[in-house]
Amino acid sequence: MTQKLSALVNISQLVTCEESQGLGIIKEAAIIFNDDTGKIVDLGPEKNLQKKYNFPEIICHDVKNRPVLPGFIDPHTHFIFGGYRAEEYLARLEGSSYLEIMEAGGGIEKTVKDTRNSSLQQLYNQGWQRLNKFLQQGITTLEGKSGYGMELDTELKQLEVMRKLNKNHPIDIKQTFLGAHVIPKEYKNNRERYINILIKEILPVVAKRNDVIFCDVFCDQGVYTVSEAREILLAAQKLGLKSKIHVDEIAYVGGAELAAEIGAVSAEHLLKVSTKGIKLMKDEGVIPVILPITAFSLQEEYAPARKMRSVGLDIALATDLNPGSSYSQSIPLLLALATIKLKLSIEEAIKGITINAARALDLEDEIGSLAPGKKADLVVLDAPGYEHLIYHIATNIVHSVYKEGEIVKKKDKEIFGGRGNS
Ligand code: NIG
Ligand code: FE
Repeated sequence: MTQKLSALVNISQLVTCEESQGLGIIKEAAIIFNDDTGKIVDLGPEKNLQKKYNFPEIICHDVKNRPVLPGFIDPHTHFIFGGYRAEEYLARLEGSSYLEIMEAGGGIEKTVKDTRNSSLQQLYNQGWQRLNKFLQQGITTLEGKSGYGMELDTELKQLEVMRKLNKNHPIDIKQTFLGAHVIPKEYKNNRERYINILIKEILPVVAKRNDVIFCDVFCDQGVYTVSEAREILLAAQKLGLKSKIHVDEIAYVGGAELAAEIGAVSAEHLLKVSTKGIKLMKDEGVIPVILPITAFSLQEEYAPARKMRSVGLDIALATDLNPGSSYSQSIPLLLALATIKLKLSIEEAIKGITINAARALDLEDEIGSLAPGKKADLVVLDAPGYEHLIYHIATNIVHSVYKEGEIVKKKDKEIFGGRGNS
């Protein structure tokens, strides 16, 4: 049976992200994919492929000498939430701290109330709009967390919204259960009771949903302790959920050490991580996910990215989109902060939103780089070279986006695979 093939041709630089050093760039390239499977079949210098394939039989999209990269991946978001917390952001500008606001009953608790009060359809509609904004910036896969319910029904509502969005929207959504986000205020004086409910009653129901992949805990000062996080994450692992952890954001608590101990896929935030924690993450293959927009928005010191690189850790980058600590879904801002503030090189920054972001989701065999067999998730830039991704500061230069070989975003015009209703 002959395969139905399509190709992007006339690519100035094909940024494959396949090399361990550098970005594996192929000049004057083409990339061929199978229309039925949505997977890459071949790639390389266009003149070599011209000899190997019968091009008149291939549907060719001329990208007019533009650079092409793997679809971008955001491996840490809380994009399903009700309401907003603008007043909290303004209070922080006046000098209040994130922890003070949280302890005064604002912060995550406020969003929990608003999310409990939102209908599934409201959350779906807002989620859909946020996904569109991500898609325009080249995001083809993202991770989304629950955690604004902290009671069974609302947690399931958030997960169900993500399931429906994943089905209808071109962006792939990988779900994380974050029932241990804060201690819900109903259990402030009886935290063991909530943890018990979480482990005995909520986790078993959530883990039966086969599109929930990870369990996450906010392990930090004022929220879950290391031993509570360990108990919750090990119980989730027994039910088949892989571990992710929010750690060492507000204060050093030994969270990176815990991530290494329990074999977490990733540890996130890490503003206050220890040298020992960094080394253990490297030894145990835990991917650090750095969220520089959060540090920027909270006016905190950035995570020690260079120190992580010096031991050879591969760094993933994410927006952390949420209504409190990082109400931003700007990939261009993320790249600007990664290079100017975290001091990552352009190669490290681009890998942070492609192959290393795929590693943070345990998806490096499917997405994050361009090679035969991987998904044809592609970003075309409206610029002469890929370096404009950071040189054109905090500006979106994405021209078009392909998801599994299908065009889903064209400059000034979006073409979506799914329908906007649920
Ligand atoms: O990653 N740190 C915990 N969770 C989120 C904040 C959520 C919120 O403030 O609503 C974060 O920053
Ligand atoms: Fe987060």
